[in-house]
Amino acid sequence: MTKADPRLEIRNLVKTFAGKRVVDDVSLTIEPGHVTCLLGPSGCGKSTTLRMIAGVDMQDTGTIQMDGRLICDTVFRIPPERRSIGLMFQDFALFPHLSVGDNVGFGLKGAKADRRRRVEEMLDRVGLLHYVDEFPHQLSGGEQQRVALARALAPQPRVMLMDEPFSGLDNRLRDGIRDDTLALLKEEGASVLLVTHEPEEAMRMADEIALMRKGKIVQRGAPYNIYNAPVDKAAVAFFSDINVLRGTVRGALTSTPFGQFLAPGVPDGKAVEIVFRPQHVSIDFDRDGRGPNPTAIAGAPARGVVERARFLGSESLIDFRMDYDGEILKATVPNVFLPKPGTPLWLTVRRDKCFVFPA
Ligand SMILES: Nc1ncnc2c1ncn2[C@@H]1O[C@H](COP(=O)(O)OP(=O)(O)O)[C@@H](O)[C@H]1O
Ligand SMILES: [Mg+2]
Repeated sequence: MTKADPRLEIRNLVKTFAGKRVVDDVSLTIEPGHVTCLLGPSGCGKSTTLRMIAGVDMQDTGTIQMDGRLICDTVFRIPPERRSIGLMFQDFALFPHLSVGDNVGFGLKGAKADRRRRVEEMLDRVGLLHYVDEFPHQLSGGEQQRVALARALAPQPRVMLMDEPFSGLDNRLRDGIRDDTLALLKEEGASVLLVTHEPEEAMRMADEIALMRKGKIVQRGAPYNIYNAPVDKAAVAFFSDINVLRGTVRGALTSTPFGQFLAPGVPDGKAVEIVFRPQHVSIDFDRDGRGPNPTAIAGAPARGVVERARFLGSESLIDFRMDYDGEILKATVPNVFLPKPGTPLWLTVRRDKCFVFPA
């Protein structure tokens, strides 16, 4: 193992079911101590990817390496139990007939006293040492989940694979358990590949996100970069509602009801979509049929009429029926802003938060 080797490296993984490539040439690296989230809609091939890394499914082609050592290709294969991989799935199923302590100690080797020490250490870290002799059914769902985490981490796996591990928990518990889990994973220095279809979960947990769609990784990067420099319209839409303006490029510019947008490098006559999130729409009042003056940053205002306004807790969501095309445009405002339906207002769009993509 040299310093340059990632903890886990998968190259060109392909898996076909009934003639369909559900994992289509996926390559991915995970650095030691990093949490990488494989994020994508249901059915895009996340679990299949994880199962091949775990060794429970076999890829058609491609290689998997750990610390620079081959653990699996199409001819050579280290069996699952010898891969030093910790697993945690949605139905994390503790062994019902084993005590909490025996569950956590299940995968441990070595002298009895050492195993006992590690079990107690892990249970203490998840705050459940007092349950060591209880049985799983005596614990709440959240507590069972923490035991499952302690069990997976106890043998100090080189890689932790987690498949939607929080989706069985009810909403109010989930954020706290995610944070506690992340703290423990970091404390243990675990290298983690966490699968989720929830963008908020990935943003909360990940050092790096790998965005997956139809069997392929379409973008990789830190959460900030994925959110703020998305590769295409679908990547923007995966994280939030979007608004879309359509236009045609003339001299690297596109004219829209909100003024002109730069479309650098796009040839004349090409159709583009300008995509932006509701939070980057600003709202101004109507001055006898006129809006605010255009500025370099905000561009020109366009008028819309409030169709519907809803309070969502930390923000309000307002749907506008736009004068220019009669379609709906969505804007969010922090806190409470609930204008009456029918109210005309003027909207501007933050240019620096717009993404221009070929249509
Ligand atoms: N054992 C299998 N046999 C046939 N098709 C499968 C099998 N496992 C998964 N699939 C199909 O592969 C696709 C990807 O599944 P999966 O990896 O579970 O997606 P995800 O975890 O992203 O929701 C789905 O269309 C699913 O129906
Ligand atoms: Mg899945």
